[in-house]
Amino acid sequence: MKRKVQVGIIGAGPAGLLLAHLLKRAGIEALVVDNRSRDEIESTIRAGVLEQWTVDLLISLGLGERLKKEAHFHDGITLRFNRGSHHLDFPELTGGKRVTVYAQHEVLKDLIAALPADMIQFGVKDVSLHRLGSDSPMIRAGEDEIECDFIAGCDGFHGPSRQAIPKSVIKTYETVYPFGWLGILTEAPPSHHELIYARHERGFALSSTRSPTVQRLYIQCNPKDDLNAWSDDRIWSELHQRLETDEDWKLTEGRIFQKNIVPMRSFVCETMRWGRLFLAGDAAHIVPPTGAKGLNLAAADVVVLAKALTEWYRDHGTDLLDQYAPTCLARIWKGERFSWYMTTMLHRNDSEEDFVQRIHMADLDYLVGSHAAQQALAENYVGLPMAV
Ligand code: FAD
Ligand code: DHB
Repeated sequence: MKRKVQVGIIGAGPAGLLLAHLLKRAGIEALVVDNRSRDEIESTIRAGVLEQWTVDLLISLGLGERLKKEAHFHDGITLRFNRGSHHLDFPELTGGKRVTVYAQHEVLKDLIAALPADMIQFGVKDVSLHRLGSDSPMIRAGEDEIECDFIAGCDGFHGPSRQAIPKSVIKTYETVYPFGWLGILTEAPPSHHELIYARHERGFALSSTRSPTVQRLYIQCNPKDDLNAWSDDRIWSELHQRLETDEDWKLTEGRIFQKNIVPMRSFVCETMRWGRLFLAGDAAHIVPPTGAKGLNLAAADVVVLAKALTEWYRDHGTDLLDQYAPTCLARIWKGERFSWYMTTMLHRNDSEEDFVQRIHMADLDYLVGSHAAQQALAENYVGLPMAV
């Protein structure tokens, strides 16, 4: 079937779905296609931490009702190293800001439920992009040909959109870390009301929360590890050792009902536009999760893109479309810097010289002794101000 739409969006992740909502609000017709089923999208466990402006955006779009009831609002984080704990008080450090813990798949459920059903096609196999240099680019989605004014490539790191840009024009930057995260969900009340980020000689550990009865925990592992090598006993033993402290604190345990391993990389594709194709979110950039920035950066991209498309549909103005990549990249690189800083400071990397490992310890020591350094971390963690 042939059909026409103003903006074709590839990918029903945070970037694609938020863009669809922003365009709908601006009266622009959009269609989202994704190769996964709704069920799969709504049950994939990923991010947890939302910046304050991301939450404000969801609420302003009328998408915050469940979030306001079920999310957890955190006034800080704890850094743990050398068996000591150091609390960073975000409202005090940032003039009143805090972060929200609300799982990514819950955000996606809210975004999907609030879009008209005919704006999303799930489970579409064989999505490909065509005629990108022309004024009427086309998405082939299974049997369908969807002719568009613009295509938004919101299909994550492995999707087809970035691959559709000729190799000769593409400019990318990348670093791959020699470690990954093993993430678990466990039926246990939170060990602490806020997040604990720990550096330990055995490797990084993170204690996060989901609900009064479910806890989210991460440990540094080898990204090539087989999940079967991580028995529940081994996971608890590593978590206990890495999160251990001299204070009166106890890690709560429960049945582990979800386990997965994610690799870690930093990646930026500076070519965020090719003709009438615009890349947004993980399709254009990846951060290691330690800074909790990926979903928030994806949301920031589509705010900029929606504004630029709105200008184009109002009077065919192209200034904001032309500024799309530079505007986004200014924020993206700061997110990359912060995520790299948090990752290298908090993980054990045996390929680093001993000198560099000592520098990371000095970084932590400086941080807990310096209000200025804490302010810099907090300002980035809660989210830098939006440029638009
Ligand atoms: P994605 O979520 O990857 O969505 C892309 C969509 O495109 C998917 O639905 C996919 O099915 C679809 N797609 C792919 N290929 C095709 C195709 N061929 N055809 C059609 N559709 C296709 N970020 C934070 O901000 N805070 C956090 O606390 C945080 N924690 C994280 C913890 C972990 C363990 C991980 C793994 C990530 C974390 N992130 C965090 C990052 C965040 O999850 C991602 O940055 C975010 O999902 C990016 O959204 P996106 O819409 O750009 O891409
Ligand atoms: C969570 C994920 C992160 O990447 C992070 O830095 C903190 C918390 C989470 O899933 O809760």
